[in-house]
Amino acid sequence: MTVQTFTPSATKAASENTVTQPTHTTDVSMKKLYIETQGCQMNEYDSHRMADLLGDSHGYVLTTNPNEADILLMNTCSIREKAQEKVFSELGRWRKLKEQNPDLVIGVGGCVASQEGDNIQKRAPYVDMVFGPQTLHRLPQMLDQHQAQVEKPKKEKIKLVDISFPDIEKFDFLPEPRVEGFKAFVSIMEGCSKYCSFCVVPYTRGEEVSRPLDDVLAEIAGLAEKGVREISLLGQNVNGYRGETFEGGICTFPELLRLVAEIPGIGRLRYTTSHPLEFSDELIQCYRDLPQMVSHLHLPVQSGSNDVLQAMKRNHTIDVYIDKIAKLRKVRPDMHLSSDFIIGFPGETDEHFAETLQFIKDLDFDHSYSFVYSKRPGTPASELPDETPEQVKKDRLAQVQQVIKQSSIDKTDAMLGKIERVLIEKVSDKDPNLLIGTADNTRLVTFIGDAAWVGRFAEIEITEIKTLNLVYGELLNLEPDVA
Ligand code: SAH
Ligand code: F3S
Repeated sequence: MTVQTFTPSATKAASENTVTQPTHTTDVSMKKLYIETQGCQMNEYDSHRMADLLGDSHGYVLTTNPNEADILLMNTCSIREKAQEKVFSELGRWRKLKEQNPDLVIGVGGCVASQEGDNIQKRAPYVDMVFGPQTLHRLPQMLDQHQAQVEKPKKEKIKLVDISFPDIEKFDFLPEPRVEGFKAFVSIMEGCSKYCSFCVVPYTRGEEVSRPLDDVLAEIAGLAEKGVREISLLGQNVNGYRGETFEGGICTFPELLRLVAEIPGIGRLRYTTSHPLEFSDELIQCYRDLPQMVSHLHLPVQSGSNDVLQAMKRNHTIDVYIDKIAKLRKVRPDMHLSSDFIIGFPGETDEHFAETLQFIKDLDFDHSYSFVYSKRPGTPASELPDETPEQVKKDRLAQVQQVIKQSSIDKTDAMLGKIERVLIEKVSDKDPNLLIGTADNTRLVTFIGDAAWVGRFAEIEITEIKTLNLVYGELLNLEPDVA
């Protein structure tokens, strides 16, 4: 049996790497699974599901040590070239482990697998299984097939590569998510049909497909029963959610939010990510009506220049974004906003960049992620002439990151004296009288309290700013348990 920890952050830079963490001490005789997760929260979610699956089907337990694993799985990211390069350098290290232990099974999944298919095994023949984001539920069968042909001569072996997009069947085959703690991710849709000119996602994860409404609601109700209090709905473009209802109708994303908010126990709702174009009035009204929705929104805009936005095929102007945020701040004046920016897109001039820099200052973001443009094979932008020297792009990125960092510091400082709603998540390791929770804007809040309050929401007055991500406060009000 494996139990998963869900990472609490609402947004995560697509370049971060994580090892899916076990939370049990394990019996040495048990078979061990090591998963390296690259990229976004969708991949993190998928990695947890892979661990659940192989735990249920074959009794594997997670380990954080690749040297003691019987299976190594890499859940890859291809959003930028650097992430993709990492795959083969890491696989080189895994090859050495396989030389020492020929029974070791190596699998590669995720977006690089989806894009490269059997090229993975051409470049790294010691890889036993290749699967895509939509076929990870077939891992147990793939593993059986692999074991069945281990003894066979090489030319009789079938290549185990499955990177198809079998609609949304994946979710029908995944076991119920295991829970530890009070937060959980729930995937509501797969893929993206926006086709921004720079982005590989529509090619690697396929077009948008939504999970049926009842499946999503049942999963969330089950999580709430197991003690989950905060749900993060996941999808590349959650605003494109069109879930089939039991009666054969279609449920939109704002409608889904209203239904989730009715589930007893769910005290806080986040989601990531949505596209500005589909950030609708109905969604803004949810912020007006549903207190469970956090005052924090991650809405990627990518650039502050209309010319660049057009070349990126984002299909909206800067004014559209500004208007939507103004409407949102009307119903939620304390809204914390974050975004993604791509710097050095082909054709970005000094003037375009200056517009982006000014835009970031004007919109008053809480924090943001920024990346130098990376040319991705097969995307329309990869055909565009790109004359900006790399050094100029790097300098621009450094400037943007400086502004972003300063505004994050300012936002944390501005919390002083304010009242924050906090989900109390644990007792401090350092002092049993201190509790630690998260505010809407994902800052950690520490205050004096009783261990019995863990899992509940509280209003905390912020009395001291410790670091960019840590503030101290005093309890004003403890909410009754929402279950
Ligand atoms: N679904 C999200 C984005 C997913 S990709 C959305 O609504 O926009 C996460 C982020 O990676 C993007 O927002 C973008 O800022 C960045 N990104 C995507 N493709 C990129 C590329 N080719 N080069 C650099 N950054 C890229
Ligand atoms: Fe990528 Fe644009 Fe979709 S950034 S994930 S194609 S919204």
